[in-house]
Amino acid sequence: MKEILRLFLCYTISILFFTSTQATEVENGKILHNENCLRCHDVSKYTRKNRIIKNFQQLHERVKQCEIMAELIWFDEEIENVTAYLNLEFYKFDIEK
Ligand code: HEC
Repeated sequence: MKEILRLFLCYTISILFFTSTQATEVENGKILHNENCLRCHDVSKYTRKNRIIKNFQQLHERVKQCEIMAELIWFDEEIENVTAYLNLEFYKFDIEK
């Protein structure tokens, strides 16, 4: 019985941990984006009809390119956080593709 309880606790805690880190990453991406990425374009670029980004891979690449254009020096993690934020909020691509 004790063993089952222990397993259950481990499982619950790891799920909670995973969900909250994911939320933190997206939140972090949002802050980074809002502070650094709205100089040349606003968010309407991401939702316009003829937007240039067609999948998650392209979105990731675009964030990298814009990050260079914006003369930011981000860690990969920051690029990933911003990509995750843009995808969740605007693009909604299937991440597997
Ligand atoms: C130096 C100006 C500049 C800055 C700063 C900038 N961008 Fe861009 N961004 C552009 C240009 C130019 C385009 C291409 C617009 C077009 O083709 O109409 C673009 C397009 C994009 C697109 C694609 C929009 C679409 O059509 O789907 C994304 C996503 C994007 N930027 C993200 C970012 C992010 C994230 C940042 C912050 C790291 C950022 N941009 C900062 C200039 C900039």
